[in-house]
Amino acid sequence: MKANTSRRSRFVFGRNPSAYERARMPFSRSTVQWALSRTFFRPGDKVLEIGAGTGQLTGELLAAGANVTVLEPIDTLADSLQRIHKEGDAGELNVSRDTFEDFVAPDTFALVVAANSFHWIDPAISYQKSADILDKDGRLCLFWYFPILADAELQRRVNSVVRTLGLDDLVRDPVGYGGTLQSLLSEGRDEAEESGYVRCLDWVLEPRRLSYSVAEYCDLLTTYASAKDLTELRKSLFSSVLHDTSGVEIVIYEYACVAESINRSGR
Ligand SMILES: C[S@@+](CC[C@H](N)C(=O)[O-])C[C@H]1O[C@@H](n2cnc3c(N)ncnc32)[C@H](O)[C@@H]1O
Repeated sequence: MKANTSRRSRFVFGRNPSAYERARMPFSRSTVQWALSRTFFRPGDKVLEIGAGTGQLTGELLAAGANVTVLEPIDTLADSLQRIHKEGDAGELNVSRDTFEDFVAPDTFALVVAANSFHWIDPAISYQKSADILDKDGRLCLFWYFPILADAELQRRVNSVVRTLGLDDLVRDPVGYGGTLQSLLSEGRDEAEESGYVRCLDWVLEPRRLSYSVAEYCDLLTTYASAKDLTELRKSLFSSVLHDTSGVEIVIYEYACVAESINRSGR
């Protein structure tokens, strides 16, 4: 996914950290394993995660045995991250509140990873700095996910509510959504390659289905950067669209892209 042209909203995600933690689902083990299997990662390796939120990707990295340094500049989210280490996790967790731009890497990393966050970093910095701090065989692994209601008619009704509230970037066109994402993600890979610092090696886009309660779904919408008027959004959705249903089915398209640095090998 290409970098956002405006980065004004990049630190708004801490408004309601418990809603964020509840609603933003963890990445699936299969997608994370798919990405790790296309790298030289071994348990105990050092991994830098940029913009970890409340650990949507971090949990799987720890379970895989990574020694993860996470960068999370929003204090409320970083506080939640401190708690995510679970019994049975093989890896180690170190939480830093630096931005990626300000972070001074003490060493190089086997992996630099980011989930739903790399597009918030200035692309004039993100690719070059990632390439610079990777080990010789290191990999940049970029993850995003994109939820849409499985019921196209319900999604259209939600679209009309969010449009009325001026929250146009919450609109999801159910027609050909997978194809829309393919184009968006292909533009992102072009941006990465045009930086001259990384080369995309492999990528995957997989849909999976999840059941959400209506409250969780409203929480999910409100975690997106544009959804500023949370009260109004919840009220409108409950009163006009979701009043006669207790739950919704969501299709979440998970994307992972594995890239190598061409800093040391090519230039
Ligand atoms: C949409 S959230 C993604 C959080 C989590 N990884 C997830 O998948 O839900 C974007 C995250 O990027 C972080 N972020 C934004 N700009 C950043 C920067 N310059 N350096 C490091 N993190 C940044 C924000 O604090 C936020 O936690």
